Amino acid sequence: MKKVIIKKTEEIENWRRNINSEINFIPTMGNLHNGHVKLISTAKNENSNVNLVSIFINPLQFDNKLDLENYPKTIDNDIKISFSNGADAIFIPSNEDIYPPNNKNIKFLKAPIDLSSKLCGLSRIGHFDGVCTVVYRLLNLIKPKNLYLGEKDWQQLLILKNLVLTKKLNVAIKSIPTQRDFDGIPLSSRNLNLSKNERKLIRFFSSELLEAKKNFQQDKKINLNQIIKRLSAKKISIEYLEHLHPHTLQKARLEDNISLLAGAIRCGETRLIDHVFLMKRRPIIAIDGPAGSGKSTVTKLIAKKLKLLYLDTGAMYRALSWLIIKESIDYKKEKKLQNILKEISIVFKSNANSHQDVYVNNYCVTEEIRSQKISSIVSKISSIKEVRKFLVEEQRKIGESGGLVAEGRDIGTTVFPHAELKIFLTASIDERAKRRKSDKNSKDSQEIDIHTLKELIKKRDFEDSNREISPLTKANDAIEIITDGYTINEVVDKIIDLYNDKIPKETEIK
Ligand code: PAF
Repeated sequence: MKKVIIKKTEEIENWRRNINSEINFIPTMGNLHNGHVKLISTAKNENSNVNLVSIFINPLQFDNKLDLENYPKTIDNDIKISFSNGADAIFIPSNEDIYPPNNKNIKFLKAPIDLSSKLCGLSRIGHFDGVCTVVYRLLNLIKPKNLYLGEKDWQQLLILKNLVLTKKLNVAIKSIPTQRDFDGIPLSSRNLNLSKNERKLIRFFSSELLEAKKNFQQDKKINLNQIIKRLSAKKISIEYLEHLHPHTLQKARLEDNISLLAGAIRCGETRLIDHVFLMKRRPIIAIDGPAGSGKSTVTKLIAKKLKLLYLDTGAMYRALSWLIIKESIDYKKEKKLQNILKEISIVFKSNANSHQDVYVNNYCVTEEIRSQKISSIVSKISSIKEVRKFLVEEQRKIGESGGLVAEGRDIGTTVFPHAELKIFLTASIDERAKRRKSDKNSKDSQEIDIHTLKELIKKRDFEDSNREISPLTKANDAIEIITDGYTINEVVDKIIDLYNDKIPKETEIK
C-alpha cells in the first residue's frame, strides 16, 4: 500500500471512502517518542488493518497559551518515525480543518464530571473537555475499528472509554502499558524540557511509586503519608498523590484487588504525571453457565490466549469420584468420606503438549476421569455438601495468587465472588440441542432424537438451577453472553475484549 500524508478534512473523508479495509487509529499531538512507537507498532502487529496516525496539537487541551506555544513541534521527524514503525497513512490537519469557523456541526463536548474533576482535572481546567471534543471529531472523520491509546494517561483513557460508551461509538479501545525510559521515568513529550536536576527529581518520584508497587505485592499495604514525607524531604512539589479505584477513581476500598496509585509533581515549569497499579493477586475470570453452552472450549482457549491457568472445577469432582471408585469407598458413610477428603491431593500440571494433566495423589488421571463410569457417579458426588465445601476450599487455595480462569456453575457466586470478570455463558435450548446432536464424540448424537434431547436439557437445567447445594445462578455482576449464532472464536474474542477493558495491560508487567 502506498504511504500517504493527508492534510485536509475533505481529503481524509475521500480517503476513508476508498479504503476497503478496517482502520487502526493512533491519535497523537506529535513530538513522537518510543511510547508512540510502541502504539504504532503494536497496532501494526496485532492485525492487518490499515494504520492511521494523526498529528494534531489540539489547542482546546491547553488552558495556558504559553504552554501551547512552547509545545514541541517536530513534524518532519514525526513523519519519519510514524512511517518507519508501521503507519500506512498520516493525517496532519490544521486548526481550521478540525474546528472550521461557523461550522455548526462541530460538537464541543464536556467530559463526565465524576472522572474529569479530579487528579489532572483539578489543575488543567477544560483539558479533558478538549480531549473529548477532538477525539470525537477525529473518530467521526476516520471511523476506525480500533483506537490505540497509552495507559500512561490513565485518566484520559477512562474518559475516552466513557465517551465511546455514552456516544455508542462503534470502535474498540486498545491500550498499551506505560513505556518507561532507561531510568524508570515514563516516556513523555514533556521530558525534553527537563533539566538534569529536574530529571533526577522525577526519577526519585517514579522510583517511589515503583517501590510502593513492589512492597504492595508483599504486604498488601500502602502508606501514602510516608511517600509524601520522602518526596517532600527532596523538596518535590506534589500536586496530588492518591490511592484510588482504577475505574471509578473513587477512594480505593479494602476489597479492591487492583487499585491505582497516581501522582503529579511539578519540576520547575514542567508538570509530570506517573502511576502504578497495586495488585493483591493476579486477575481471575469466572465463567459459569449451563451444560452445552460451550464453557469448556471457550475457557480453555481464553486460558491459552491470556496465559492464565485453566481451572477445570469439573475435573476436580471427577478426580475425587475416580478415587472413590478406585478405593471402593462407600461415600454415603460420613466417616469414610471424611477420610478420603483428608487423604486426597488434586494437582493440575502442564504437560509436554501444553495441555493440562490432572493428578490424584501424584498419579496422572487425565484420561481415566473421562470414563463413562466416572460420568455416571460424578453428579451424585458433586451434590454432597461436604464434598462441595472441601473442593470449593481447594479451588480457592489454587486461586489465592490469581492468574486463572475457572469454569463451573458456582464460580462467580461461591468460589470466587471477587473475580475481576464474571461471565455467564449460555445458549438457547434449541441451540444446545443442535450442538449436542452434531457432536460426533457424543453418544447423544446417534442415539437420541432432537426433541428428546431438548427435553433432557430442560430437565438438567431445572435440576442444576434448583438443587440445594451451589445451584447454577448468575452472579449479579456477571455479564451474560448468549452464544447462539456466534462462533467459538467470536465468543473468546468478546470475553478477551471485556477482560482487556477491565484489566490494565500494565498489570502484566512485573
Ligand atoms: O494523548 C494525547 O496525545 C492527546 O490527548 C490525544 C489523545 C492525541 C488527543 O489530542
